[in-house]
Amino acid sequence: MTVSPAASPVQPAASTARPVIVLDHLWFTYPDNVTALKDVTLNIAPHEIFVLFGPSRSGKSTLLRVLNRLSDLNEGAQRRGNVYFNGQDIFAPSVDVTELRRRLSMVFAIPTPLPGSIYDNLTYGLRMAGIRDAQGIERRITRALQQAALWDEVKDRLDSSAFALSGGQKQRLCLARSLALEPDVILLDNPTSGLDPISTATVEDSLIELKERYTIIMVPHSVQQAARVADRAAFMLDGEVVEIGSRQQMFANPKDKRTEDYVVGRFG
Ligand SMILES: Nc1ncnc2c1ncn2[C@@H]1O[C@H](COP(=O)(O)OP(=O)(O)O)[C@@H](O)[C@H]1O
Ligand SMILES: [Mg+2]
Repeated sequence: MTVSPAASPVQPAASTARPVIVLDHLWFTYPDNVTALKDVTLNIAPHEIFVLFGPSRSGKSTLLRVLNRLSDLNEGAQRRGNVYFNGQDIFAPSVDVTELRRRLSMVFAIPTPLPGSIYDNLTYGLRMAGIRDAQGIERRITRALQQAALWDEVKDRLDSSAFALSGGQKQRLCLARSLALEPDVILLDNPTSGLDPISTATVEDSLIELKERYTIIMVPHSVQQAARVADRAAFMLDGEVVEIGSRQQMFANPKDKRTEDYVVGRFG
């Protein structure tokens, strides 16, 4: 992977492969006039773990939510600029938003299993998506649980309540629930918040395996986590992307003073 020196935050993709996602001068303003994204331009390459980090209220969650148009739920918000997914404008009238959200699947910070069994949690979304053949369902949930590194822990008790799982297991179940829908991109907003260090390590290890199949965009819970998992990272501050670079650049040799101050813990 090569990243050219940062003259400006606008960077080419990490690899020569066609980017999966392109943000082109994206602005986003909430109805109360808070501008959460200011002229964000970046590319995300296939099969990378791209980390968005920065202090709270810097626009990280907003950026994730725009990518699969969850931001449509903020009525009266204003957007300028474009977002392309596999070359297609995600805001074009022809886009099927449900399908877009399946292909760019969000996993939230607080794992929220549905009432019911582990099995029910995994099949609910599939049934909603119209997938009903027993073999297809079986294959998808087995694979999703394996990919989320949960299979060994739950394979003998798929009928027990999802609420009986530990926090780390619930988070991996929510990840598996997304993976069963076979997305292209996984959007993770602080997926290990509230997890103990061992569960956190398990989730981080599964992310590194998952990038073989998926593109991952993640808001980490700390700079340390960002530095452990990122292939590339963007440092965000007050709605702007300050700097984008490889893990090595961002965490060992940041170019912008503000990135450096944040990475070394001078502000947070
Ligand atoms: N639903 C909302 N309505 C109005 N303002 C919001 C909403 N969500 C976030 N914001 C504002 O947008 C800015 C960016 O927030 P957010 O994207 O949540 O940042 P982060 O995830 O980096 O903490 C903040 O100033 C926040 O207060
Ligand atoms: Mg957030």
